[in-house]
Amino acid sequence: MHLFSRRSVLKGATAFGGSALLSRPVLADDNLPVLRAAPAFAQLAPAGYPETPVWAYATGASGTVPGPEIRLRAGERVRRRLVNDLPQATAVHWHGIRIENAMDGAAPLTQAPVPPGDGFDYDFVAPDPGTYWYHSHNRSTEQVARGLAGPLIVEDRDRWLGQSGAATRELVLVLDDWLLDAEARIVEGRWDDLHAASHGGRMGNTVTVNGVAYPAFDIRPAERVRLRIINTATDRVMPLALPDFTARLIALDGHPVVPRDLETLVLGPAQRADVVIDGRLDGDARAGLLLDPGNGELVEIAAFVHGGAPVAMSDPDMRPLPAWGTLPAPDLSNPQRETLLMEGGAMRGMRDARFAGKTMGFRELVSNGMVWAFNGAANGMDQPIFRAAQGRTIHLEMTNRSMFPHAIHLHGHHFTVQSKGGFANAAGDVRDTVLVGADETVGIAFVADNPGAWMIHCHMLSHQKSGMMAWFEVA
Ligand code: C2O
Ligand code: CU
Repeated sequence: MHLFSRRSVLKGATAFGGSALLSRPVLADDNLPVLRAAPAFAQLAPAGYPETPVWAYATGASGTVPGPEIRLRAGERVRRRLVNDLPQATAVHWHGIRIENAMDGAAPLTQAPVPPGDGFDYDFVAPDPGTYWYHSHNRSTEQVARGLAGPLIVEDRDRWLGQSGAATRELVLVLDDWLLDAEARIVEGRWDDLHAASHGGRMGNTVTVNGVAYPAFDIRPAERVRLRIINTATDRVMPLALPDFTARLIALDGHPVVPRDLETLVLGPAQRADVVIDGRLDGDARAGLLLDPGNGELVEIAAFVHGGAPVAMSDPDMRPLPAWGTLPAPDLSNPQRETLLMEGGAMRGMRDARFAGKTMGFRELVSNGMVWAFNGAANGMDQPIFRAAQGRTIHLEMTNRSMFPHAIHLHGHHFTVQSKGGFANAAGDVRDTVLVGADETVGIAFVADNPGAWMIHCHMLSHQKSGMMAWFEVA
């Protein structure tokens, strides 16, 4: 693991606020805003390194990494025409949105991948406020690694920002992890790397925040800022810390939590957290967002630079976000009980698993690019792992019998984490993606209220590709 050293890059640090990502969409002939996927260039590595060829989403002429911010109010529609100018078929998934099935973008389950030169019209309601993102859901190990991801922000129905005890400003922080060579080009042709896939996945060597290595953000003394933090990395679990601030967690995966003090925040791939920080008053000019790259050390990946006159102190009591009011509560008196057993990977492996209609030994699985299984099947997409009647509460017990953590994501639903590692989850966190540690069991519950065929997979995209993918049906 080698992150570009910070010392060499301090001079190149740039301020880059969330609002800089906003741009006016180009309209198609029939007034549908266009979201174009196409090759582009981005200055990912620090100044002095060349620009990186990426694949990016664009609303205007050229694509950006991360993709343009899409922002709306809860209950409003998102309407975008995907135009595919990539050399490969693609599809867009709106991660975390409790969406209508046909708009989920989960190719090939909910739609055919969109061929180069073709398009697809997405039109859906985003019912719940919160911090979400959109990303490619076809050949995603490669396409997300090349840059096809962007923030999707659903604003609260009732105004929170600016109210007493709330933040006065917000900042979207899109975190990503890139595997670059010495010329800052994305390392290609290792999308099928089974060594990486059977460990933690494809690990990068450059972390960016809003597409910039080591950016600096301005903050005024005492200013209360809501950070919407999104981990868009293909495989990297990001342990994060903001040790120079009193930081409070207010939402996970878009769903409000009772505000609580934050020491470290572990964000698996696809997970989000909304965190509120108060600008320091003590004249300390610089504070950092720190990441543990996997060796227990903390590396600064972004700085907050204090400046300007202090603003009025905020109420020390943090104002909670307004409740969603849209999510049905699971009925735990008699849930439908289902299980998900995860097996495979380095150091444990598995004896055999079903793949493509037959049972294969480990070697044969490996020769088919499979090193993981859910319930004894590697990428068993021929039938659902369970079926639920619409409105039924599902209790899903997920057991990880491997040596690596997995970020399990359910499409079309949010779920309550009931238990983790043998302990009841008193906080009752509601999420769409949950980390299940090595040898850990996590119990979740949700009302299967959204009809359709929904994917359930590991969001370490290298793991998804090599076996950890399945679906369930609500009818
Ligand atoms: Cu964010 Cu199936 O993915
Ligand atoms: Cu995994």
